Amino acid sequence: MKIDNKDYRSLWFEEGKLMMIDQNKLPFEFEIKAFDDHVEVMEAIRVMTVRGAPAIGVAGAYGMALAAMNADESGFRGTLRKAHEELCSCRPTAIDLRSGVDHVYESTIKFIPNIEHARKVALLAAEEFAERVVNECYKIGQMGASLIKPGARILTHCNAGALATVDHGTALAVIRAAFAKNPDLFVYVDETRPRLQGARLTAWELHQEGIPHAIIADSAAGYYFSQGEIDIVITGADRICTNGDIANKIGTYEKAVLAHVHEVPFYIAAPLSTFDLYCPKGADIPIEFREPEEITEFEGVKLANVGSPALNPAFDITPAEYIDGIITPCGVFEARDAARKLGELS
Ligand code: MRU
Repeated sequence: MKIDNKDYRSLWFEEGKLMMIDQNKLPFEFEIKAFDDHVEVMEAIRVMTVRGAPAIGVAGAYGMALAAMNADESGFRGTLRKAHEELCSCRPTAIDLRSGVDHVYESTIKFIPNIEHARKVALLAAEEFAERVVNECYKIGQMGASLIKPGARILTHCNAGALATVDHGTALAVIRAAFAKNPDLFVYVDETRPRLQGARLTAWELHQEGIPHAIIADSAAGYYFSQGEIDIVITGADRICTNGDIANKIGTYEKAVLAHVHEVPFYIAAPLSTFDLYCPKGADIPIEFREPEEITEFEGVKLANVGSPALNPAFDITPAEYIDGIITPCGVFEARDAARKLGELS
């Protein structure tokens, strides 16, 4: 991704440390934080210094590598097992977190009792997982670009950009690739209450690359659909079930229903780490509930009646019937068939 015309990734490993752009500070401050143990990485995932399903998968993978690098020889296996369990539980909805953590854990334990070698393998496995995510996101852009016709007005929700995936993005990879071919497009960016990933992060990424866009209040999407001003919807996902149901940021389901009513195509874009082959349907996906203060306050400023409770589900489920296609690195598939088709290709 370009930031002030320089190439960046949202996280990377350098000199024994995991580096992350602090996504809580954007777009007002650009700060890079360094982490050298997995407990700090867990906290960064929980407080959303790093967020977005593929990016937390990569952070989890490096978290496992740091656990292996720091673990004593004597308790190596036990430390890794505990780190695996704790990292996976930091955020429950995005399956990518487990995909990344599992990949490093399983690669590493094969090499016990050669602990020195196991440590090297852990870091190599994390690097491999990160590169795979980045390459897949690039391919998602190439696979999906032709869905965006010249002059298209696109709606996206939350941030499914390079920040959320290390580089390129999922929904934003498609938009970036389409823009590179034909800059005649426009993006409506849902602000994405309560944490404003659309207004803060997606708008920032689009602005950095000169892609025409405007932020809209979440509740304004219906107005733009009713005016015939949205041609296509593309979002990311946090988990995709074998029947094609998906979980994504709270509010995605509403946009899918609106798109269905207004006969506007609705697409999901995701790498392979977002598919959960053990999850048959949306109702089986655990939904993360976050602190009520995310609704009632912003950066310490009170926004709501003090004393009223608030409810804060962070994700919702969009059933396969409202999804026109899933854009993957291997092609665009019908939602109901995507997991099976990917299984046949692997
Ligand atoms: O709570 P967040 O910001 O981690 O939620 C992120 C989303 O819902 C994204 O749309 C999803 O992870 C896909 S990112 C490519």
